[in-house]
Amino acid sequence: MSSEPDLPDNLLCKKTQAAESNKNAILEVLKKELSTNVTVLEIGSGTGQHAATFCSCLPTIAWIPSDLNSDSFESITSWKKVVSAENMESPRLIDAASPNWNIGNVNRISAIVAINVIHISSFDVTLGILNGANKYLDKGGVLYFYGPFFQNNAEPTESNKVFDQYLRNQNKYWGIRTLDEIEVLARDRGLHLDKTIEMPKNNLSVIFQKN
Ligand SMILES: C[S@@+](CC[C@H](N)C(=O)[O-])C[C@H]1O[C@@H](n2cnc3c(N)ncnc32)[C@H](O)[C@@H]1O
Repeated sequence: MSSEPDLPDNLLCKKTQAAESNKNAILEVLKKELSTNVTVLEIGSGTGQHAATFCSCLPTIAWIPSDLNSDSFESITSWKKVVSAENMESPRLIDAASPNWNIGNVNRISAIVAINVIHISSFDVTLGILNGANKYLDKGGVLYFYGPFFQNNAEPTESNKVFDQYLRNQNKYWGIRTLDEIEVLARDRGLHLDKTIEMPKNNLSVIFQKN
Protein backbone atom coordinates (compact mmCIF):
# COMPACT_ATOMS: atom_id res chain seq x y z
CA MET A 1 0.00 0.00 0.00
CA SER A 2 1.51 3.35 -1.01
CA SER A 3 0.96 6.55 0.89
CA GLU A 4 1.39 10.15 -0.21
CA PRO A 5 4.58 11.72 1.20
CA ASP A 6 3.91 14.54 3.66
CA LEU A 7 4.73 17.88 2.07
CA PRO A 8 6.09 20.76 4.14
CA ASP A 9 3.28 23.23 4.87
CA ASN A 10 4.92 26.03 2.93
CA LEU A 11 4.72 23.97 -0.28
CA LEU A 12 0.96 23.74 0.13
CA CYS A 13 0.56 27.51 0.50
CA LYS A 14 -0.88 28.77 -2.75
CA LYS A 15 -0.18 32.32 -3.91
CA THR A 16 -1.81 34.64 -6.40
CA GLN A 17 -0.02 37.68 -7.72
CA ALA A 18 -3.12 39.80 -7.13
CA ALA A 19 -3.22 39.00 -3.42
CA GLU A 20 0.54 39.54 -3.09
CA SER A 21 0.27 42.97 -4.63
CA ASN A 22 -2.84 44.24 -2.82
CA LYS A 23 -2.46 42.74 0.68
CA ASN A 24 -0.34 45.52 2.20
CA ALA A 25 -2.55 48.33 0.94
CA ILE A 26 -5.64 46.52 2.26
CA LEU A 27 -3.90 45.87 5.58
CA GLU A 28 -3.31 49.60 6.06
CA VAL A 29 -7.05 50.25 5.58
CA LEU A 30 -8.10 47.43 7.91
CA LYS A 31 -5.70 48.67 10.61
CA LYS A 32 -7.65 51.95 10.66
CA GLU A 33 -11.15 50.61 10.13
CA LEU A 34 -11.28 47.53 12.36
CA SER A 35 -11.37 47.75 16.12
CA THR A 36 -9.11 45.55 18.20
CA ASN A 37 -10.30 42.33 19.87
CA VAL A 38 -13.01 41.69 17.33
CA THR A 39 -14.07 38.71 15.23
CA VAL A 40 -13.88 39.06 11.46
CA LEU A 41 -15.46 36.71 8.94
CA GLU A 42 -13.79 36.64 5.54
CA ILE A 43 -15.91 35.56 2.58
CA GLY A 44 -14.14 33.96 -0.39
CA SER A 45 -10.71 33.62 1.26
CA GLY A 46 -9.20 31.78 -1.73
CA THR A 47 -5.55 30.93 -1.08
CA GLY A 48 -5.58 32.32 2.48
CA GLN A 49 -2.77 34.81 1.76
CA HIS A 50 -4.83 37.72 3.05
CA ALA A 51 -5.95 35.83 6.16
CA ALA A 52 -2.31 34.95 6.95
CA THR A 53 -1.05 38.51 6.47
CA PHE A 54 -3.86 40.11 8.46
CA CYS A 55 -3.65 37.56 11.29
CA SER A 56 0.10 38.15 11.63
CA CYS A 57 -0.21 41.94 11.61
CA LEU A 58 -3.48 42.26 13.59
CA PRO A 59 -2.90 39.72 16.36
CA THR A 60 -5.85 40.76 18.55
CA ILE A 61 -8.34 40.04 15.79
CA ALA A 62 -9.94 36.60 15.52
CA TRP A 63 -10.10 35.87 11.79
CA ILE A 64 -12.48 33.30 10.32
CA PRO A 65 -11.58 32.42 6.74
CA SER A 66 -14.20 30.81 4.50
CA ASP A 67 -14.83 29.83 0.94
CA LEU A 68 -17.41 28.19 -1.27
CA ASN A 69 -14.70 25.87 -2.51
CA SER A 70 -13.23 23.47 0.07
CA ASP A 71 -10.26 22.81 -2.24
CA SER A 72 -8.82 26.08 -0.94
CA PHE A 73 -8.81 24.88 2.68
CA GLU A 74 -5.47 23.06 2.40
CA SER A 75 -3.74 26.26 1.34
CA ILE A 76 -5.52 28.33 4.00
CA THR A 77 -4.57 25.96 6.83
CA SER A 78 -1.02 25.70 5.49
CA TRP A 79 -0.68 29.48 5.57
CA LYS A 80 -2.05 29.44 9.12
CA LYS A 81 0.72 27.02 10.17
CA VAL A 82 3.47 28.79 8.25
CA VAL A 83 2.75 32.16 9.88
CA SER A 84 1.81 30.53 13.25
CA ALA A 85 -1.49 32.40 13.28
CA GLU A 86 -3.22 31.29 16.46
CA ASN A 87 -5.86 33.95 15.85
CA MET A 88 -6.94 32.29 12.58
CA GLU A 89 -9.85 29.89 12.98
CA SER A 90 -10.33 26.85 10.79
CA PRO A 91 -11.88 27.69 7.41
CA ARG A 92 -15.65 27.45 7.09
CA LEU A 93 -17.48 26.19 4.04
CA ILE A 94 -19.72 29.14 3.25
CA ASP A 95 -21.67 29.82 0.09
CA ALA A 96 -22.24 33.53 0.48
CA ALA A 97 -25.31 33.34 -1.75
CA SER A 98 -27.11 31.01 0.65
CA PRO A 99 -29.41 32.42 3.35
CA ASN A 100 -27.68 30.56 6.19
CA TRP A 101 -23.94 30.70 6.71
CA ASN A 102 -21.98 28.02 8.49
CA ILE A 103 -20.24 30.43 10.86
CA GLY A 104 -19.85 27.80 13.57
CA ASN A 105 -19.90 28.45 17.25
CA VAL A 106 -19.42 32.23 17.09
CA ASN A 107 -21.63 34.67 18.94
CA ARG A 108 -20.60 37.98 17.50
CA ILE A 109 -19.20 39.07 14.15
CA SER A 110 -17.81 42.59 14.09
CA ALA A 111 -16.75 42.69 10.47
CA ILE A 112 -17.30 40.84 7.21
CA VAL A 113 -14.57 41.17 4.60
CA ALA A 114 -14.84 40.23 0.91
CA ILE A 115 -11.79 40.90 -1.23
CA ASN A 116 -12.09 40.55 -5.00
CA VAL A 117 -15.20 38.39 -4.69
CA ILE A 118 -18.30 40.20 -5.91
CA HIS A 119 -17.22 40.88 -9.50
CA ILE A 120 -16.03 37.27 -9.96
CA SER A 121 -19.29 35.67 -8.90
CA SER A 122 -22.96 36.06 -9.74
CA PHE A 123 -24.94 38.98 -8.36
CA ASP A 124 -26.58 36.48 -5.96
CA VAL A 125 -23.29 36.54 -4.07
CA THR A 126 -23.38 40.34 -3.71
CA LEU A 127 -26.96 40.09 -2.45
CA GLY A 128 -26.07 37.17 -0.19
CA ILE A 129 -23.23 39.13 1.41
CA LEU A 130 -25.54 42.09 2.06
CA ASN A 131 -28.16 39.72 3.53
CA GLY A 132 -25.48 38.01 5.61
CA ALA A 133 -24.21 41.36 6.89
CA ASN A 134 -27.77 42.23 7.91
CA LYS A 135 -28.19 38.89 9.66
CA TYR A 136 -24.82 38.25 11.28
CA LEU A 137 -23.11 41.62 11.88
CA ASP A 138 -23.20 43.36 15.24
CA LYS A 139 -24.74 46.82 15.38
CA GLY A 140 -21.97 49.21 14.30
CA GLY A 141 -20.19 46.34 12.57
CA VAL A 142 -18.33 46.79 9.31
CA LEU A 143 -18.89 45.25 5.89
CA TYR A 144 -15.72 45.70 3.82
CA PHE A 145 -15.47 45.15 0.08
CA TYR A 146 -12.29 45.50 -1.92
CA GLY A 147 -12.21 45.44 -5.70
CA PRO A 148 -13.11 47.43 -8.80
CA PHE A 149 -16.45 49.28 -8.83
CA PHE A 150 -18.34 51.48 -11.23
CA GLN A 151 -19.92 54.63 -9.80
CA ASN A 152 -22.73 56.65 -11.39
CA ASN A 153 -20.97 59.96 -10.84
CA ALA A 154 -17.55 58.89 -12.14
CA GLU A 155 -16.44 58.08 -15.67
CA PRO A 156 -15.16 54.47 -15.61
CA THR A 157 -11.47 54.07 -16.29
CA GLU A 158 -10.52 52.42 -19.56
CA SER A 159 -8.82 49.56 -17.69
CA ASN A 160 -11.94 48.82 -15.63
CA LYS A 161 -14.12 48.88 -18.77
CA VAL A 162 -11.77 46.36 -20.41
CA PHE A 163 -11.65 44.24 -17.26
CA ASP A 164 -15.45 44.25 -17.00
CA GLN A 165 -15.79 43.02 -20.58
CA TYR A 166 -13.14 40.37 -19.94
CA LEU A 167 -15.06 39.14 -16.88
CA ARG A 168 -18.37 39.05 -18.79
CA ASN A 169 -16.71 37.05 -21.57
CA GLN A 170 -15.50 34.55 -18.97
CA ASN A 171 -18.91 34.19 -17.37
CA LYS A 172 -22.06 36.08 -18.28
CA TYR A 173 -23.00 36.41 -14.57
CA TRP A 174 -19.70 38.07 -13.62
CA GLY A 175 -18.83 41.74 -13.95
CA ILE A 176 -17.85 44.89 -12.12
CA ARG A 177 -20.70 46.03 -9.87
CA THR A 178 -22.06 49.57 -9.61
CA LEU A 179 -21.58 50.88 -6.11
CA ASP A 180 -24.72 53.07 -6.24
CA GLU A 181 -26.87 49.94 -6.82
CA ILE A 182 -25.20 48.12 -3.95
CA GLU A 183 -25.73 51.14 -1.72
CA VAL A 184 -29.50 51.09 -2.33
CA LEU A 185 -29.71 47.35 -1.63
CA ALA A 186 -27.54 47.77 1.45
CA ARG A 187 -29.77 50.54 2.82
CA ASP A 188 -32.75 48.16 2.65
CA ARG A 189 -30.73 45.74 4.76
CA GLY A 190 -29.82 48.13 7.56
CA LEU A 191 -26.39 49.11 6.26
CA HIS A 192 -25.17 52.58 5.34
CA LEU A 193 -22.19 53.50 3.19
CA ASP A 194 -19.60 54.88 5.58
CA LYS A 195 -16.77 55.61 3.17
CA THR A 196 -14.91 54.66 0.05
CA ILE A 197 -11.13 54.78 -0.20
CA GLU A 198 -9.28 54.85 -3.50
CA MET A 199 -6.81 52.00 -3.79
CA PRO A 200 -4.05 51.22 -6.30
CA LYS A 201 -4.94 50.05 -9.81
CA ASN A 202 -8.41 51.63 -9.87
CA ASN A 203 -9.77 49.56 -7.01
CA LEU A 204 -11.79 50.77 -4.04
CA SER A 205 -12.08 49.90 -0.41
CA VAL A 206 -15.80 50.21 0.35
CA ILE A 207 -16.93 50.34 3.95
CA PHE A 208 -20.53 49.86 5.00
CA GLN A 209 -21.64 50.05 8.60
CA LYS A 210 -24.54 48.22 10.24
CA ASN A 211 -27.10 50.65 11.67
C1 LIG B 1 -10.90 35.99 -7.24
S1 LIG B 1 -11.00 34.91 -5.89
C2 LIG B 1 -10.44 35.98 -4.56
C3 LIG B 1 -9.84 35.19 -3.44
C4 LIG B 1 -9.25 36.06 -2.32
N1 LIG B 1 -10.27 36.82 -1.65
C5 LIG B 1 -8.19 36.95 -2.87
O1 LIG B 1 -8.44 38.15 -3.02
O2 LIG B 1 -7.10 36.45 -3.14
C6 LIG B 1 -12.74 34.80 -5.55
C7 LIG B 1 -13.06 33.85 -4.42
O3 LIG B 1 -14.46 33.90 -4.18
C8 LIG B 1 -14.92 32.59 -3.93
N2 LIG B 1 -16.35 32.51 -4.20
C9 LIG B 1 -16.97 32.49 -5.40
N3 LIG B 1 -18.29 32.34 -5.24
C10 LIG B 1 -18.52 32.27 -3.90
C11 LIG B 1 -19.68 32.09 -3.11
N4 LIG B 1 -20.88 31.91 -3.66
N5 LIG B 1 -19.54 32.07 -1.76
C12 LIG B 1 -18.32 32.22 -1.20
N6 LIG B 1 -17.18 32.36 -1.90
C13 LIG B 1 -17.28 32.38 -3.24
C14 LIG B 1 -14.07 31.73 -4.87
O4 LIG B 1 -14.08 30.36 -4.49
C15 LIG B 1 -12.72 32.39 -4.74
O5 LIG B 1 -11.96 31.86 -3.69
